Amino acid sequence: MGFNCGGGVEKTMVNRLRDLEIVPHEAPVGAEVRGVDWLEPISESLAEALKQAWFDHSVLLFRGRKLSDQELLAVTELFGGSQAAKSREFYMKAGFAVGSDRVSKFPAITLISNLDDDGRPVMKNASVGSLELNWHTDNSYTEVPPAGTLLNAHILPVDGGGDTSFANQYLAYEALPDDLKEIIQDKHQCHDISRSTSGTLRPGFQPAASRDDVEGPIHPLARIHPGTGKKALYLGRQGPWPSSYILELDDAGSQEVMRRLWAHATQPKFVWTHKWALGDLLIWDNRAVMHHRTQVDPNQARVMHRALIKGEPVISAWTSPVATQ
Ligand SMILES: [Fe+2]
Repeated sequence: MGFNCGGGVEKTMVNRLRDLEIVPHEAPVGAEVRGVDWLEPISESLAEALKQAWFDHSVLLFRGRKLSDQELLAVTELFGGSQAAKSREFYMKAGFAVGSDRVSKFPAITLISNLDDDGRPVMKNASVGSLELNWHTDNSYTEVPPAGTLLNAHILPVDGGGDTSFANQYLAYEALPDDLKEIIQDKHQCHDISRSTSGTLRPGFQPAASRDDVEGPIHPLARIHPGTGKKALYLGRQGPWPSSYILELDDAGSQEVMRRLWAHATQPKFVWTHKWALGDLLIWDNRAVMHHRTQVDPNQARVMHRALIKGEPVISAWTSPVATQ
């Protein structure tokens, strides 16, 4: 493979910067990128243009290439490198071996598949199966969440669901009603680690009875993107009370504010939905968007390869000097 992230010279007939096309969707977020072949060298100038497009549009769509896990990891290098998936630890604790479907030999790679251990499609497996995946940002329940996520379609159902939607959280923050914007100022949320994106408890966790039982890091309700300087809402994921409570509010106040924030942040006016084709690669920015997946037809296989882009500690919108602008 001729992959050469960052160090290539523009001497081939492919991947020329002048052939790069960024086509924004007619939607509040995302763009399709044309003129890039991941299997050919990527020059520094092209890599820079791709990263800028990622900052500008938050979700990039590339078509037509099923990448190996090594190739997927090489793409992460253009966007800041890779980061291990937290779910890997849960699966290893639950007894899954390295190299199994649930624990890739590459720490940053996760197979998002609805196959069971026998290779048949099912509604529920040890991962998220075919279930609907509620609105969330990846791994927000970690101290340093991944900056972004790559998802590459290897096996897809035919008209079988699994559409992925993205909600622009820059716009959501900007459009907050004045009173809600004021209420969340200086507020922080506990990001419950105990549940998967389908809402099911992870192996080894019990439902929390009180705030003291909730395990997970504290993040501000709005963050600043280090690449764009813009503020975005940062909600993580929803769970049954007291999951994901607001530190500075009492129980009733926390539940009411979170209810309002979720209803606001996922409105269709902030959303773009992608219907997958084989070989599609989406690269999204967890600091700027949330995402959601519809249920998959459990009678048809769906296998996606995911890689996480290395993140940085969350920059609070409440303490950074940028926040005063
Ligand atoms: Fe996700």
